[in-house]
Amino acid sequence: MTSVIATISLKGGVGKTTVTAGVAEFMAGEFGRRVLVVDLDSQINLTTMFLGDERWVKLNAAGHTLATVFADAVDQTSEFSLPDTLQRDVSTVSGVAGLDLIPSSLDLIEVTEELSAMRVRRDDTLAGVSALRDALELVVDQYDYVLIDCPPNMGPVTLNGLAMADGYIIPTIPDVLSTYGIPQVQTYIGRFGEEIGRRIVELGVVITKFKANSSVHKETVTRLRRDSTIQNVLPGYLGEANSIAAAAEFGSHASLRAKYGSRGQFDQFRELTRTIMVEADDKLPLRQLGT
Ligand SMILES: Nc1ncnc2c1ncn2[C@@H]1O[C@H](COP(=O)(O)OP(=O)(O)O)[C@@H](O)[C@H]1O
Ligand SMILES: [Mg+2]
Repeated sequence: MTSVIATISLKGGVGKTTVTAGVAEFMAGEFGRRVLVVDLDSQINLTTMFLGDERWVKLNAAGHTLATVFADAVDQTSEFSLPDTLQRDVSTVSGVAGLDLIPSSLDLIEVTEELSAMRVRRDDTLAGVSALRDALELVVDQYDYVLIDCPPNMGPVTLNGLAMADGYIIPTIPDVLSTYGIPQVQTYIGRFGEEIGRRIVELGVVITKFKANSSVHKETVTRLRRDSTIQNVLPGYLGEANSIAAAAEFGSHASLRAKYGSRGQFDQFRELTRTIMVEADDKLPLRQLGT
């Protein structure tokens, strides 16, 4: 059974990509799960984190990225090749197997505009919304978890991610501005789920870049845990650490501990991953086949 989990937030820079990449690597490396990560952000950070620039440039030139999925939806073509686009065993940590990636493209910026125009032209807010799900349908069942890194907006590409998601997590830095839009995201996803007849379950808010010496961070975490409009702040969290920032750079590592940091960061990531898996197993419905 597969759980499809989207990482989402209206803010950039809150650690969405870092959480998605790290949790995926820990699911595969520490818990032996088969994981597919899908990079939906035109900033291609998740993609280059795992593949490096050179490999991405080649894939992109050949059209072997997600941009082709959406170009097909707009142009009514079928250029997308799943076998050529799916990148196997992309973890840069030695010994970590079972982590695959669907790469993104800078071309998504332009394609997203065309997708929006198509929705307006057809006067259909759901036009093209199942393009991603249809494109990946043949492989989804091969994984225990599919993690989808969304761009920081509710545009048509994000909706494609949500349309195939069973659940979602919202990473946030625990400060006033970063947490501001969380209720809006929850309401929006709830409404979108109703529109497409699919329950998209909130797994929880993930605290990122926590600074133990910041009173604002400590107060915000307390407030979030108390606030009834925020249903669930996950117990797992990530502290701010240079080693976690450095993990974004493409390069090989001897172990997850070496990559993410041995001063508590490895344990934080492992615990965060475990709590997300527990929430997913607990809350997500049996996979909603065909919906
Ligand atoms: N726990 C952390 N400690 C230190 N730096 C972090 C942490 N999480 C993320 N970062 C850094 O913060 C920046 C934004 O993170 P990123 O994951 O790209 O956010 P988003 O995907 O939400 O835009 C990146 O430079 C990343 O390396
Ligand atoms: Mg990102």
